[in-house]
Amino acid sequence: MTLDQRHVLVTGGSRGIGFEICKRFLSEGAEVLAVSRDAEKLAAAHSSFPDLQVLSGDMSVATDIDRAVSWVRERWGRLDILVNNAGILPAGERDLVEQGDEVFDEVIHVNLAGPNLCTKRFLPLLEASNDPRIVNLGSTSGIMAQSLSGVYAVSKAALHALTIAWSNQLAGHIPVNAMSPGWVRTDMSPNAPGDPHDSAATALWLVNQPRTLTGRFIRDNAAVGWMPLEIVEQVAEQNRQVNR
Ligand SMILES: NC(=O)c1ccc[n+]([C@@H]2O[C@H](COP(=O)([O-])OP(=O)(O)OC[C@H]3O[C@@H](n4cnc5c(N)ncnc54)[C@H](OP(=O)(O)O)[C@@H]3O)[C@@H](O)[C@H]2O)c1
Repeated sequence: MTLDQRHVLVTGGSRGIGFEICKRFLSEGAEVLAVSRDAEKLAAAHSSFPDLQVLSGDMSVATDIDRAVSWVRERWGRLDILVNNAGILPAGERDLVEQGDEVFDEVIHVNLAGPNLCTKRFLPLLEASNDPRIVNLGSTSGIMAQSLSGVYAVSKAALHALTIAWSNQLAGHIPVNAMSPGWVRTDMSPNAPGDPHDSAATALWLVNQPRTLTGRFIRDNAAVGWMPLEIVEQVAEQNRQVNR
């Protein structure tokens, strides 16, 4: 029971990776609150796991986040682990020309502004914990590389940058990391080969690491580079040639 008496909030905890994280953390002794928009999906999650506490709300909307903050303050008085998992992947997400302007805005709002707002607003409750942690659900599609394309990847690259910025802001107080869940089968990616059980295992590994691990990108239980090594080496080689 590595999370005994730890209080955890998982945004987007009603289904997919978030739900797997909720179940895994519950099995490790944590008290877990799942927050997402669809009340029926939350009710279904609660009925299959009655220990899972649920609250409906849009975690990219400040007033809804404030309601979640009040819920946690009144029931728990502190938050030990914030998992910023809620995210959306729009249809046709790779085509920046065809995509409606409002789709671009919504993806950035949910995938980037949401985690920022949650981090900011839950900060006082996280500071009341003796071992607070923040985990952001990043993506290998958001690694800064030539192959990056579409608004979803842009939003995840920006979330990676936000992770570093919050990690610097909270240095010495709260570890903030991003993790890749792998390419796993959920409503978001029904044809993926992976199993979201494994994503939950990575999240569990991450929140049990030493507090000095912060500002990093985690994949398969290890911190990896924010940029693929070959890109770093290419850039270094280009710089060497310019400076020759
Ligand atoms: N699946 C993959 O292979 C994969 C790969 C890399 C990264 N990721 C990332 O992992 C995270 C989870 O993905 P998933 O595959 O589990 O997606 P999913 O199956 O679509 O589930 C998304 C969850 O987020 C909730 N949600 C969406 N927008 C929300 C909002 N504004 N406020 C509150 N809750 C919201 C959804 O519930 P409601 O719709 O009811 O709100 C649902 O619970 C995402 O950030 C995703 O980008 C996934």
